[in-house]
Amino acid sequence: MLDLDQQARAILEKNDRGGFTIPTARLYPFQWNWDSAFIALGHATVDEDRAWQELETLIEGQAHDGMIPSIVFRNDDEDYFPGPKVWQTNNGMIDGTGISQPPVLASVVAQMVQEQGEKSYARARALFPNILKWHRWWHDCRTPDGLGVVCTVHPWETGRDNCPDWKIGLGHMAIDPELESYQRKDIEHANPAQRPTQEEYDKYITIVKFGRDHGWDQKVLTNQGPFLMADPGIFFILLRADRDLLWLAEHLGFDADQDQIKNWISDAEAHKDYFWNEDFGAFCARNVATGEFAQGFSNASALCFYADAGTQDQRAKTLAHMKRIEGKTQFGQSSWDPDAAQFDSQRYWCGPLWCQVNYMIAMGLKEAGEDAMAEKMRQDLRKVIELSGFYECFDPVSGAGCIGRDFSWTAALWLAWASPSSSHTAPA
Ligand code: GLC
Repeated sequence: MLDLDQQARAILEKNDRGGFTIPTARLYPFQWNWDSAFIALGHATVDEDRAWQELETLIEGQAHDGMIPSIVFRNDDEDYFPGPKVWQTNNGMIDGTGISQPPVLASVVAQMVQEQGEKSYARARALFPNILKWHRWWHDCRTPDGLGVVCTVHPWETGRDNCPDWKIGLGHMAIDPELESYQRKDIEHANPAQRPTQEEYDKYITIVKFGRDHGWDQKVLTNQGPFLMADPGIFFILLRADRDLLWLAEHLGFDADQDQIKNWISDAEAHKDYFWNEDFGAFCARNVATGEFAQGFSNASALCFYADAGTQDQRAKTLAHMKRIEGKTQFGQSSWDPDAAQFDSQRYWCGPLWCQVNYMIAMGLKEAGEDAMAEKMRQDLRKVIELSGFYECFDPVSGAGCIGRDFSWTAALWLAWASPSSSHTAPA
C-alpha cells in the first residue's frame, strides 16, 4: 500500500495530460483555471519545471481581451457538457469558456518565486504581462459601470458554483424560453443528490446563451446580462492577487505598471464595505440590481483575512462566525453556513469543505496572527484525507468524501500543505 504522499504524487501523474493536469478523469476532462494554480503548488514539491509548465499552459488559453477562461478546451470530449460547441467563444488561440474563475494565479506565482528565488525569475517574468492583462480584464470588463466593485456574471465564474449565495441573483433571472434542449453529463458521473438542480442548470445555460448571442462582448455581459452579483470570494482573491502582482512587478522590474496596480488596490480597499452585511455581521455576496445580501456565512466570507481587509470589529465578527461553525462541524470550515437555509453537508458548495478555499483562509488567519485556528484547518484537512482519501470535497460533519475521486487539487494541497512532510511550503 502506497503512503499518502506517494498516492498524491500518483494522482498528479495519472491526471497529467502532458503539460497540464485535469482535475479528475471523466467528470472534468480539461484544464481548469484555479485548479491549475493550486495544482502547480503540488507539482512544485516534486518538479519545479513541471509546476511552471502548468501555469504556462493555462495562459495559452487566454482570450484576446485578456480573460483567462474557467476551462481551456484543447479538445472536445463527449463526456462533458457544456463543451466548446456550446460556448462558441472563438476568442483566443485555444477554445475556452466565455467566463473566468477566481484569479489566484498571481498569488501562486508570487509564492513560487518566494520559495524558489532568483532561478525562477525568468519563468515568472515571461508570465507577468499576461497576468497583468488578466487583472486589467477583471477591473475593466467585470466591474459594472458606476459600481466600482468587481462582480461576476455566472455562478460558475466564482468557482463556488451552486453555493446558496447565488440564489438571490438566480431568483431574479428567467430561463430563456428559446433555450435549446441539452443533456447534462455531470449527473451521469456523480450522484445527482450532490449536484445542482435542473432549474439551476437551465439558468446557468441561459447565461451562456446570452454571452454567445452577444458575441462574448464581456462588457455587455456584465452590464446587461441576466445575472450580476458581487462575490466576496472573487473580490478578496483579486485584492490579494493585485498586491502579489505589485510585489512581482517590484521584484521582476516591471516599473511602469506599478502605479496602475496600486490604483486597483486602493480602489478595492475603498470599496470593501460594499460586501459588509451589517445585520448579519459578515462579508456576504450581494445582488447588484437589488442590493440584497446573502444571509449566511460562506467560506468566501472568511477570505477577508487572506486579503488583509476589514476593520478590527469586522474581523472579530468574522472570527465569531468561524468559531460558531467550528462548533457545528468536525472538520473545520464548511462552504455554507450550517445554521442557514439550504445547508446540505454533502451537496457540492452547500456545505462540504473544499481544500483550496480552506488553504487560503488558513493562510490569511496565520498572517493575521490566528495561528491556532490556521493550524487546526490544516490538521482537519489532513484528517479527512486520512479518513476518506483524495476527494473533490468532504462532508464537514462526517468527513465522508464527496463527488470526484482521485482529485488533483486535493492531492496537490496534501503535498504542499496538509501532509506531515510539507512543512517547507506550508503557510500554517
Ligand atoms: C467544479 C467546482 C470548480 C472547479 C471545477 C473543477 O465545477 O465548482 O470550482 O474548478 O469543478 O475542479
